[in-house]
Amino acid sequence: MAIDLNTYRQTSLEIWNKMAPGWEEKREWILQDSMPINEWLVDQAAPAPGDTVLDIAAGTGDLGFLAGERVGADGKVLVTDFSPEMVEAARRNGEQRGIRNAEYRIMDAERMDLGDDSVDAVVSRWSYMLMADPAAALSETRRVLRDGGKLAFCVWQTPDRNPWAAIPGMTLVQRGHMPPPEPGAPGIFAMGERDRVHELVTGAGFADPRIEELAFEWRYTGTELWEMLTRIAGPIAEVLNGLPEDEQADVRDAIESGLNDFRQGDALVVPAATWGVVAR
Ligand SMILES: C[S@@+](CC[C@H](N)C(=O)[O-])C[C@H]1O[C@@H](n2cnc3c(N)ncnc32)[C@H](O)[C@@H]1O
Repeated sequence: MAIDLNTYRQTSLEIWNKMAPGWEEKREWILQDSMPINEWLVDQAAPAPGDTVLDIAAGTGDLGFLAGERVGADGKVLVTDFSPEMVEAARRNGEQRGIRNAEYRIMDAERMDLGDDSVDAVVSRWSYMLMADPAAALSETRRVLRDGGKLAFCVWQTPDRNPWAAIPGMTLVQRGHMPPPEPGAPGIFAMGERDRVHELVTGAGFADPRIEELAFEWRYTGTELWEMLTRIAGPIAEVLNGLPEDEQADVRDAIESGLNDFRQGDALVVPAATWGVVAR
């Protein structure tokens, strides 16, 4: 792998800090299409009243808060992310919603500041594939999860199943604004292959995982596609925001025409597919 992982870690942290306001403002839009994924993850992790649940790379915290409903006032949810801006966004979200059983922590999933066997269940949505060393993050997850506790997470499937991200990414590569993704490098599709997910999870010391396909659609109207791309989409947003205005407009046209097959009336309804993974 030609990329330097320490540089990647630093850049990734900077990018996600910058994305936090977009995630905070658009959280209801994100949830509207993706709530079934959160429900699936919490059902699979199956936390019980009184449990401690860890949400890794929690973003604005909504998955953790849903798990928190199961553990009740005697339990707690640790809402963690390596981005301080995301953790603050999660805290504001939790406070606005009157959540009382959450603790908020800045925590890098590759080096967790938590004791061995200290949590009863772990949930994480769309995170491990972004980490410089997903094997380390999964080993850390195994270490902090008590024996018998469940990990439920999801990661994006391959680009062909996710045109909502693949077409914008390909457009930027074709126009010379981004290098093509390197095999094995971290990124949105780094755990797209089922075998890779299986290998990483078992390599971290979990038993044979259940890996299910979860498909849904993102629905964009008005400026939502462009807002998602420039305010939520992490590395893609970073590249788009750095383009000169005229090139940005041309890229926008190219992405919109690339997604035209998914037009339904005044909306774009674009397929998305993620692996839902459960392991103990
Ligand atoms: C695509 S967002 C998903 C946020 C949230 N889980 C959700 O689904 O709404 C990815 C999140 O992973 C976090 N992240 C990336 N690398 C991380 C790491 N090494 N440790 C902890 N968090 C990380 C980012 O800050 C960001 O909040």
